[in-house]
Amino acid sequence: HSHSSVSFSTNCILKTPRRLFLRAKSSSTTTMANDEVIGGSLKQQLAKLFEESLRVTVPEDNNAMGLWSKVKGKSTQFRGPQPIGQAIMKNLPASEMVDSCSIAGPGFVNVVLSRQWIAKSIQKMLVDGIETWAPKLPVKRAVVDFSSPNIAKEMHVGHLRSTIIGDTLARMLEYSNVEVLRRNHVGDWGTQFGMLIEFLFEKFPSGEVVSDQAIGDLETFYKASKQRFDSDPAFKERAQRAVVSLQAGEEKYRKAWAHICEISRKGYQKVYQRLGVHLEEKGESFYNPYIPGALELLSKKGLIEESEGARVIFIEGKNIPLIVVKKDGGYNYASTDLAALWYRLNEEKAEWIIYVTDVGQREHFEMFFTAAKRAGWLPAEDNKYPKASHVGFGLVLGEDGKRFRTRSTETVKLVDLLDEAKSKCKAALIERGKAKDWTEEELEKTAEAVGYGAVKYADLKNNRTTNYTFSFDQMLNDKGNTAVYLLYAHARICSIIRKSGKDIEELKKTGTLDLVHPDERMLGLHLLQFAEIVEEACTNLLPNVLCEYLYNLSEDFTRFYTNCQVVGSAEETSRLLLCEATAVVMRKCFHLLGITPVYKI
Ligand code: ARG
Repeated sequence: HSHSSVSFSTNCILKTPRRLFLRAKSSSTTTMANDEVIGGSLKQQLAKLFEESLRVTVPEDNNAMGLWSKVKGKSTQFRGPQPIGQAIMKNLPASEMVDSCSIAGPGFVNVVLSRQWIAKSIQKMLVDGIETWAPKLPVKRAVVDFSSPNIAKEMHVGHLRSTIIGDTLARMLEYSNVEVLRRNHVGDWGTQFGMLIEFLFEKFPSGEVVSDQAIGDLETFYKASKQRFDSDPAFKERAQRAVVSLQAGEEKYRKAWAHICEISRKGYQKVYQRLGVHLEEKGESFYNPYIPGALELLSKKGLIEESEGARVIFIEGKNIPLIVVKKDGGYNYASTDLAALWYRLNEEKAEWIIYVTDVGQREHFEMFFTAAKRAGWLPAEDNKYPKASHVGFGLVLGEDGKRFRTRSTETVKLVDLLDEAKSKCKAALIERGKAKDWTEEELEKTAEAVGYGAVKYADLKNNRTTNYTFSFDQMLNDKGNTAVYLLYAHARICSIIRKSGKDIEELKKTGTLDLVHPDERMLGLHLLQFAEIVEEACTNLLPNVLCEYLYNLSEDFTRFYTNCQVVGSAEETSRLLLCEATAVVMRKCFHLLGITPVYKI
């Protein structure tokens, strides 16, 4: 009589140290039925138990069945989950996980988790590794398209945001066992190359191999060529012809193009190197050969129309159509993105394609996603895979409330910015007297970890869609919600363990973790929520969720450490293990945020 397709999802809300509130709600997307949940998140494990109890409760001819199917189908007649709660209470299989269970008002089932079980789960993680706490996601392979600066133009602070946010999302997905293709969709194609190449030929007419230095700063080079383009019609004409020659694949032009790209690449590699970010460059030029085929497919679906000499796709609800072939016959940003999407879906077999750019590009993404749905490349429903998601972020503001710039240049030189963060941290360390006991290398490495970490964390801790103010003073403060504070907090935990003189690897195996004090239990429950926090951050593409978790974790730890003596107490072994578990989870958070942890301070 049991049926196996009951599908529901649960939301856990941690409200008090002793209780975990669990809300059962209707859902047609999460099917827990045949999931293997060992090692899954707390939420999944509880859901599994709940489902067990529902299975025995719900014979097919029973009235209750009507209720369940309504729950499943999101019917308006859904009467609230009290019956679910009763069923759960009555039939919850014996489990070492749950101590007791009660109904707490409409919509809530209170579950009191067993103290032994919490302790055991944490200790198991310590022994088997935090990888065993990785959440499960419904996709195997994803593309994260991020950073993506434009050749010859400046890499601005928006690209820094894209780099930092994209890298974190990639790391979180990778941790969740998703294969991630990290794609740098650099703007390396387009009409601006005509004028760049012509300008290069003009400056170096003998066709000699010019050094990077000779070209100088590419930004200046770009501006100078643009000025030449705007002021000299003969140059403009040559530049336009150069585009044609380049696109036709003429050797001399391809070479000049490749050279310009290479110089640009060296510039942004410096930023990636400092940030420890790895990407594979597949720029706009890579997808160029796929554009005609992709447009042909859209054309066959009847999506493409002529309008004012251009070829366009009209999108319902939008005033301006999506131009896919310009009046002059050339392709553009949108045609490239359509071809890239086709490639990622069909050649790379990605099930989730994630684009990280400023919110200003939302319209562009909405429009070409809609076109892809109408063509049947993507399912119409947003909760189905394959799926494309635009991860938009807000502006970075200066302390004057305007767009962030430095005094010397219009745009911020990103490398300078990172170097400045590092040198400020180094100065602070020296001021704390660290130069005495630390080697120069230790000073450098710590300053780097804290400085770059501070820049990243200051960005990631905000909900990405909002603007935020770039302030060294704020991000380098060692109090409050900053990377500096969190990295120091982690280092302090490591020092507690070091100073105890105990071999923590040995304790993991021979000692026993227990959670007697309410603050220990609170900390333990917080640790156990790690997996579902990562899951939530991935599902909603919100790194700030993980930052918030990390900050709260350090606060829970402080409360525990203030109220519970560790070294020299009767509970020393257990509490050292709890310290270690906190440090392990904090380190994993740092790792997922792209921040290098420090161990001493
Ligand atoms: N190069 C673009 C820019 O600087 C970002 C590209 C984002 N990726 C994409 N597939 N459109 O704004």
